[in-house]
Amino acid sequence: MHSIQNDEFVLVIDHPLIKHKLTQIRKKETGTNEFRKIVNEIGGLMVYEITRDLELENIDIETPVAPMTAEQLSGEKLVICPILRAGLGMVDGILQMLPSAKVGHIGMYRDEETLKPVEYFAKFPNKIEERLVIVVDPMLATGGSAVSAIDMVKKRGAKNIKFVCLVAAPEGVSELRKQHPDVPIYIAALDERLNEKGYIIPGLGDCGDRIFGTK
Ligand code: PRP
Ligand code: URA
Repeated sequence: MHSIQNDEFVLVIDHPLIKHKLTQIRKKETGTNEFRKIVNEIGGLMVYEITRDLELENIDIETPVAPMTAEQLSGEKLVICPILRAGLGMVDGILQMLPSAKVGHIGMYRDEETLKPVEYFAKFPNKIEERLVIVVDPMLATGGSAVSAIDMVKKRGAKNIKFVCLVAAPEGVSELRKQHPDVPIYIAALDERLNEKGYIIPGLGDCGDRIFGTK
């Protein structure tokens, strides 16, 4: 039994627009084109909440009518790190809201028998230790992929990390909280459970296949 509470480390962003869009991609009849578009849109909508605590600095500017002290984002540009493949589906939507962000890539797939993650690629921008690193994957199932991906970015020095997903199983949230208690988790929908094959129920099926039209 996994009882998940919304707190400063687990945030279910249950906005009506997000709920509506999630319903569209959960439907089995939704095709690749629509699915891909909506995954990106939800990624973009989640950005408001994910970036709520970004730091600002004051700068002196002049508007057409008066000088003023205004605010702008401070520090190094943040990094979006999708877990391939499905994480790629959210990147464009997030970049629309954060066009200056850097992008790192984490190549990882879940072995279908063992459900353990297998790494195959990693590439990150420099100064990762000074940046907010947002690890992105639409699905948090057993939590194995997210835990390994965050291990990878921590090994390279990242200290300020957030994890963002669309649909999570309570099992995955518990595992990620246990292994990386310092990493806040942002979720669009917290579902019921995993089935015996490690799929989220009710979920939306195999997200990578639905985004890329494979299968
Ligand atoms: C899916 C999903 C996550 C992982 C979640 O990827 O996108 O990365 O499974 O499962 P977990 O929490 O049990 O690790 P998949 O392995 O299907 O690879 P793909 O994105 O390349 O399709
Ligand atoms: N990966 C997916 O794409 N879907 C699930 O339900 C679980 C893991």
